Amino acid sequence: MTKRKLILDCDPGHDDAIAIMLAGNHDGFDLLGITVSTGNQTLKKTGINALNITQFLTIDVPVCLGLERPLVRDLQIADDIHGESGLDGFNFPPLHKSFDQRHAVDFIIDTLFESKEKVTFVTTGPMSNLAMALRKAPKIVDHIEEVVLMGGAHGYGNVTPAAEFNILVDPEAAHIVFSSPVKVTMIGLDITRQVQVLPKIVKRMAAINNKASDLFVKLMNVFNENQARVFGLKGGPLHDPVTIAYLIDPSLLKTKHAHCEIDLSHGISYGRTNCDLFDYLKQDANTFVAHHIDVEKFWNIIERSIRSYD
Ligand code: BDR
Ligand code: CA
Repeated sequence: MTKRKLILDCDPGHDDAIAIMLAGNHDGFDLLGITVSTGNQTLKKTGINALNITQFLTIDVPVCLGLERPLVRDLQIADDIHGESGLDGFNFPPLHKSFDQRHAVDFIIDTLFESKEKVTFVTTGPMSNLAMALRKAPKIVDHIEEVVLMGGAHGYGNVTPAAEFNILVDPEAAHIVFSSPVKVTMIGLDITRQVQVLPKIVKRMAAINNKASDLFVKLMNVFNENQARVFGLKGGPLHDPVTIAYLIDPSLLKTKHAHCEIDLSHGISYGRTNCDLFDYLKQDANTFVAHHIDVEKFWNIIERSIRSYD
């Protein structure tokens, strides 16, 4: 079986951590590297979190640091959800793994050009690194199979009424990605709000009783406490792993090909992903927008991944 080549760009983050877990131990993937963006916390912290997760789960991939701030905006973090460290809730053993010395943007460009097969690019944070790579070396588009991203919403946002966090942190970067010629699949809040880590899910994963379930349970307990305080939810939405779960089993989601554009005006809708699902504007479709998820299938994929770390 030919493995799908993958780069994961993320800002761990509780849900990013589970996306790394999913991508890091699946037969169908050749994970070429993890590139780190700023977002849920400062780059220093999201970077250390990526190292800790990969070391703890013995995922042997390079981890490269990216841009320290968004392209235009000042940095906005999500410490209300992810805490002081960006990954509160788990005490990792002493860290021995170190960063790959290449800058994420250069790693992305070089890895794409060097790969014989096209590479799938997954983003679960603000898209500053990918946008910068696209600007620096526009020809990388010929080497990208597709971009699968967690971000945006065709309904309402989670940071403003209009905008979702990953897009609002760096709307200009999102614009560069959405308006590029690459195939883009957008998995927004409309989908990820349906996969809530309810107490029954925590119990189900805890019963597996291995190191990955220990990580999952301890991280999700803090994630859920924060989601309850901020959004009044009984279970936090496990946004980011839907990207990787979709690549593991594409029947997980239904998508619609539609025109999608980022609001770059500095008004109340700054950072909104305007998805023209009904084709009102008769513009070219540029995005596969996810609009349906098989929730039970998703939890089965999470469970299988946790079990694979035995
Ligand atoms: C996104 O924002 C971050 O806090 C999460 O990690 C996820 O990528 C959800 O809006
Ligand atoms: Ca994230």
